[in-house]
Amino acid sequence: MGSDLLADARALDATLLHWRRHLHAHPELSGHEANTASYVAAALREMGLEPRARVGGMYGLTVDLGPAGGPCVALRADMDALPIQEQTGLPYASRTPGVMHACGHDAHTAMLLGAARLLSARRGELARPVRLIFQPAEEQPPGGAKPMIDAGVLDGVERVYGLHIWSEMPVGTLGTRAGVFMASTDELDIVIRGRGGHAAMPQQCVDPIVAASQVVVALQSITSRSIAMTDSAVVSITQFNGGTASNIIPEEVRLAGTVRTLSEATRAAVLRRLREIVEGVARAHGAEARVEVGAGYPALVNDAAAVESALRAARGLGIASESILQLAAQGGGEDFAYYARRVPSAFVFLGARNEAKGCVFAHHHPRFNIDEDALPLGAALLAALALSAA
Ligand code: NI
Repeated sequence: MGSDLLADARALDATLLHWRRHLHAHPELSGHEANTASYVAAALREMGLEPRARVGGMYGLTVDLGPAGGPCVALRADMDALPIQEQTGLPYASRTPGVMHACGHDAHTAMLLGAARLLSARRGELARPVRLIFQPAEEQPPGGAKPMIDAGVLDGVERVYGLHIWSEMPVGTLGTRAGVFMASTDELDIVIRGRGGHAAMPQQCVDPIVAASQVVVALQSITSRSIAMTDSAVVSITQFNGGTASNIIPEEVRLAGTVRTLSEATRAAVLRRLREIVEGVARAHGAEARVEVGAGYPALVNDAAAVESALRAARGLGIASESILQLAAQGGGEDFAYYARRVPSAFVFLGARNEAKGCVFAHHHPRFNIDEDALPLGAALLAALALSAA
């Protein structure tokens, strides 16, 4: 079955390219995937399927295949693009200025459409119901997964699988790990408020630039002094904004940044220390601080049995064991984490790097591109997961 599935996916290659390149040329930002959703719905209807649109109130789509009733397996793809000006020069580069599929979600959508095509040709072989989830707004917390889950997409579902194209791994490989696989993400918005005035008379002011500088340095002690050597966390301050002129001490400085951790306990500990340090250091300088932590994603924890099923399906497709990689936990975040919190799930990276084709740029880079040879493999893997009994 497996090798037939891969052969059938390869026979679909021209269609997969057509879908992926159309989506690539017409990217839409998180929460604005109206045309993408219509395109996906039309492709599904052409296969004789009946998608449900606007699931969860955004542009999410689901479609059910196979027998009715019984425990269901769900396959999820995300559909949104990023606010980046594409610089690949590809013939099918983004036609929308400032918006680009720079994370591979165009490929995810095309691969799930490919799986839909493969599965609709094998409906009789489906031992259990299958739900395909085309999700919007992964790139923008609070994300598109949660509203779809709240709308009931996991009702009756006992397994969820998701793929992510990965430009750090060669095409033809796949990789994952059981347990925590991707980090929690929390966005920071910090305001340090002092008292502005003339730069020549600092004694009359409370300088928020000095206070904020100390805050930035002190925050780096969290990862080195508050986290065990066996645990890990990242605290990055990525914006430092304040001031208007060389002779004015400003009223306030605004900092932005992100916190990444691999467990809820560490996440809580880091955020608690962060507040203590920001508020304490600001107070020591006579300034006031406000710390806001924006809604991020929890850590993505893969279920060991679901990972085993994914690896078995990969081997069944004929992927050599040396092409199946055991990965370390990743610092990136993913709202697939919400599915995995509710239902035993596996999230798998699919290699798309190819030096010879120039597909070497990192995700979210303006020259990001994938080796499209990954598409049939991903479509076949998703279909195999739906067809496997475990
Ligand atoms: Ni992504």
